[in-house]
Amino acid sequence: MARWTDEMGLRLGILVMAAGKGTRMRSGLPKVLHPILDAPMLGYLLRSVLGCGADEVAVLVGSGGEQVEEYLRSFPDVKTLWQREQLGTGHAVKVTRDWWERFDSLLVLNGDLPLLRPETLNDLLNRCRKDPADGTLLTFDACNPDGYGRVVRSPGGVRIVEHKDASDEERLVREVNAGCYFFATASLARVIDRIGNDNAQGEYYLPDVISLMTGEGMRVRALPMPEEEMMGVNTQAELAGVTRILRDRIALGWMERGVRIMDPSAVWIGPDVELSPGVRVMPNVQIWGRTRVGEDCFIGPGCILTDAVLGRDVVLIANVVLENSELCDAAKAGPFAYIREGSRLESRAFAGKFVELKKTTVGRNSKVPHLSYLGDARLGEDVNIGAGTITCNYDGKSKHPTTIGDRCFVGSDTMFVAPATMGDDASTAAGSVITEPVPEGALGVGRARQRNVEGWTSRRKKLERQGG
Ligand code: UD1
Ligand code: CA
Repeated sequence: MARWTDEMGLRLGILVMAAGKGTRMRSGLPKVLHPILDAPMLGYLLRSVLGCGADEVAVLVGSGGEQVEEYLRSFPDVKTLWQREQLGTGHAVKVTRDWWERFDSLLVLNGDLPLLRPETLNDLLNRCRKDPADGTLLTFDACNPDGYGRVVRSPGGVRIVEHKDASDEERLVREVNAGCYFFATASLARVIDRIGNDNAQGEYYLPDVISLMTGEGMRVRALPMPEEEMMGVNTQAELAGVTRILRDRIALGWMERGVRIMDPSAVWIGPDVELSPGVRVMPNVQIWGRTRVGEDCFIGPGCILTDAVLGRDVVLIANVVLENSELCDAAKAGPFAYIREGSRLESRAFAGKFVELKKTTVGRNSKVPHLSYLGDARLGEDVNIGAGTITCNYDGKSKHPTTIGDRCFVGSDTMFVAPATMGDDASTAAGSVITEPVPEGALGVGRARQRNVEGWTSRRKKLERQGG
């Protein structure tokens, strides 16, 4: 993308205001760090902003600023500025003056605008470049304008009246200030110190700049935008509303690229996930983190995937929970499997009903079909694990490994007291407690031999009749 400065020789700075308390969230977490799907709200706006080719992007932090600053470490191109006392959005722009005076133009954004698309920002920047003004602000028609600053248009120009300062008549106005402004910094510098705080909240309001500019005979305009991108987040309910919109947007994006989603309203996909064409996703699925899903995989109902890697043609039948694990081509799991950190199903391997795997590799074509716990285990190829097999990998102090060779047959209800090993082509008898290595080709039997007590039932009944 062309840098802003390429075309005009003008320098652009972008200031994201994120120092406010976010009181209406009623939460200890700074507002901009509240998660949407599985990423902080601020991340969505920064993704859009970083595509604009600005010379510098800064985030203003204050309330809960250490936490926000910590999060910003994942954005090395973003500068952190501090507003130690939060006296309002006008004050926020005032205290950053030394920073923004170095640019010709300044885009100021409220930090709580996660729906703003990069294309919309670019259109705005292009428009301001082609048709310069001293101040531009974005507005939208709100379904429910409560809490927003109202855009009052009159022959004398436009001004913003905050909800708390508005008259009943002004409150009827549905066009509201979106919290996104573009300024010529030289013009902004002329009026910024004249913002006062004589209002219902005793705060310095940035939108007052608009009337101050108009009063100076400067060129000011208010551009209407679609509500779907300009909604701010101030409450938990608005956060949930915005989350639904982003969920639908992300699902739609994947459907456009050939992913089949039966019910997009019941599928939750994080912003960093990558899906491939031909993937089918059934209802009530959640896909989070850096999960990657290869072509033609089937993700059945109720699955939750976090940081998982799936090859091609993987089948998750239903209710599979995958965490930080890899399933290679044509592997299969579920229903009701829990595959935990550091596990791997190699090609065509299977983990079935009520199976838990932790840090376990299941080799090619190997099967763990039912009711097993395998932890810290490594299984070779073509292994069959009988129902109820358990690795006793924890001795109360530390974890120990279990290693099973190729083509092994593990009888049902085998306990491997780890560290445990089985050579290739070995077997265990059902119900065995394996405490010694099973050599290649051997059968490990570790259980008491059966003995039958003849006539036991009739003897017992006789004793009962005698009242014994
Ligand atoms: C603001 C606008 C309002 C607009 C609305 C759009 C003002 C006075 N009002 O209201 O016209 O309709 O956004 O959502 O600007 N912040 C700071 N430092 C501060 C105060 C706020 O950095 O001292 C940041 C906040 O973290 C937030 C943004 O500025 O990201 C907006 O603050 P917020 O309190 O949400 O403003 P609103 O009352 O919603
Ligand atoms: Ca707001």
